[in-house]
Amino acid sequence: KNYRIALLPGDGIGTEVMEAAWPVLQAVADQQDFGLVGDCLPWSCDYYLEHGVMMPPDGVEQLRAFDAIYLGAVGLPETVPDHVSLRELLLAIRQGLDLSVNERPHRLLAGVTGPLRTDKAFDILCIRENTEGEYSGAGGRVHQGGDLEVAVETSIFTRAGVERVLRYGFERARLRSGKLASVTKSNAQRHSMVFWDEMTDRVAADYPDVQVTRYHVDAIAARMITHPETLDVVVASNLFGDILTDIGAAIQGGLGFAASANINPVSGGPGMFEPVHGSAPDIVGKGLANPLATLWAGALMLQHLGEAAAAKNLMTAIEKATASGAGTPDMGGSLSTAQLAQAVQAAL
Ligand code: NAI
Ligand code: MG
Repeated sequence: KNYRIALLPGDGIGTEVMEAAWPVLQAVADQQDFGLVGDCLPWSCDYYLEHGVMMPPDGVEQLRAFDAIYLGAVGLPETVPDHVSLRELLLAIRQGLDLSVNERPHRLLAGVTGPLRTDKAFDILCIRENTEGEYSGAGGRVHQGGDLEVAVETSIFTRAGVERVLRYGFERARLRSGKLASVTKSNAQRHSMVFWDEMTDRVAADYPDVQVTRYHVDAIAARMITHPETLDVVVASNLFGDILTDIGAAIQGGLGFAASANINPVSGGPGMFEPVHGSAPDIVGKGLANPLATLWAGALMLQHLGEAAAAKNLMTAIEKATASGAGTPDMGGSLSTAQLAQAVQAAL
């Protein structure tokens, strides 16, 4: 079987980590007797400077023909404003393909300590609502510039939107430890978050085997640091998930490790798999970029394609490499981007 993958290296270290990671994925596929056929799409800030758009007008339609999208990072902040590069490419793809669930595994890989220096287990799967909520963009300004000026930012939570992200979380919890944390702030936000709690109860009725705990976002933020071993699947809104996943990334050792999957859990179609980090202009061209987040995102992609054995092989190889002390400078190691990817490939 051959899978068609849209490769979007993007800008800066996005191209470096993709170049390092893609051959490793090919090697994983070879071992399992399936193929990954990559089609490299040049959509990026360079493309923007040449064509005046981040991607062709039918870009989203082109992507629908693929089984998955594998993305590096986008952004050339000195030349192209970030709201242009992010909105017109990343957000356009997320919205165009209705990738309403953002899934991020936070785990300490073998041999990696992270800043907490605790021996408590740290293995959390954050599921973030990706298309509505606090980031809906609804609102505006009244009496602009005057003493009575008011800015309003309205959160929008739809029944369909809340239900699909919760349901996805319950499905994942079932496959993991059977524990789900639902994150709200329903003591202070009495419309949207009370609604979220009601939806949690409603969906939970279909999953009697999953143990649900409600947390307020401030409390769970602290708990991720003090008692991470009590958490497994964490489902949160767009804003809350945004913040909690940065905490998760920090605990697991930083942006060099954080991987994410953007998925349409309702109608399917290609998901988008990417490292969480950006194009890192401060380290571009020096071979300093950690490729593990991109490789981990690759494992999420293989898992989502249904190639569970290949995903597992890749994660095992990543951890063999980290356990042996292989690392880029952000991990305290001395390997280059390409060398660390090669160490993972050698461990396959
Ligand atoms: P960034 O994630 O690119 O970098 C933040 C810091 O982390 C930098 O010091 C960087 O050197 C370091 N870092 C990031 N990834 C690393 C890796 N793999 N290995 C080692 N160190 C790593 O965020 P920043 O600097 O705020 O944004 C730079 C550009 O990236 C902007 O144009 C921004 O809009 C864009 N961006 C794109 C994202 C995406 O494509 N998904 C996500 C975040 C930012
Ligand atoms: Mg964030």
